[in-house]
Amino acid sequence: MCPRVGNYGESSMTEKPTITVVADYDAMSLAAADRVADVVSRYPEGAITIPTGSTPVGMYTELARRINAGELDFSRVQIFCLDEYLGVTPEDPAALTKLLLRDFLVPANINLDNVHFIPSTAADPAKAAQEYDDAVKAAGGLKIAVIGLGPNGHVGFNEPGSGPETRTRIVNLTRESRDQNAHYYEGATIPEQAMSMGIGTILESEKIVMIVNGTAKAEIVKEMVEGPMTNDLPGSWLGLAGSRAELIVDTSAAAFLES
Ligand code: PGA
Repeated sequence: MCPRVGNYGESSMTEKPTITVVADYDAMSLAAADRVADVVSRYPEGAITIPTGSTPVGMYTELARRINAGELDFSRVQIFCLDEYLGVTPEDPAALTKLLLRDFLVPANINLDNVHFIPSTAADPAKAAQEYDDAVKAAGGLKIAVIGLGPNGHVGFNEPGSGPETRTRIVNLTRESRDQNAHYYEGATIPEQAMSMGIGTILESEKIVMIVNGTAKAEIVKEMVEGPMTNDLPGSWLGLAGSRAELIVDTSAAAFLES
């Protein structure tokens, strides 16, 4: 049975997640870049996790601009990837990490020695997943986790069914997520399994920023914010982080929110 322990809007936390509604995609991207830059300037050697997909591309463009202009120093930041298809190397044309390389790591000249790739090709993936979580802890825990929200409510590849206790592990992908991601690549077959950082690891981050834009996600945003916290909608677990969490959402994705 799925735990139901209140909801994002009526969180049992004394302080709820902040909801920041901005005009459009560009404003969302700038706000997210500001949050990352603020954390990185306070913790120049801190550990962070950042997502792949279409939502963060604008944030990456802005972060790369600041890094290349010498306004932001990313040289010692420890970057932990959020998710990857099982058995797929970072350089594979259909890898999620390939998108991160293309959209951020390469244009921002990030030293790849500071990037912790998901151990998706390890001979013993379960053991490697555990070691990945241990590496997050050894790096002092996450200072900021930037995450997106899937149309089915997933975070990273924490698909519906994922609870707040989950750690880095192998996950089975839903048909919906595989179809969603198919548009990132021409003609690529999307694997049926992935490895994803867990909700539990994300929730322990000092700050969590979820970015969501577009009318297509207005319904799931409303459900997440106004409905119960539930494994059926993994993004709803952000409510447990209270004021450490911030949802940055454009007016289109916020369209169905009350008030
Ligand atoms: P998107 O994916 O940024 O491509 O919409 C978000 C997600 O599935 O987490």
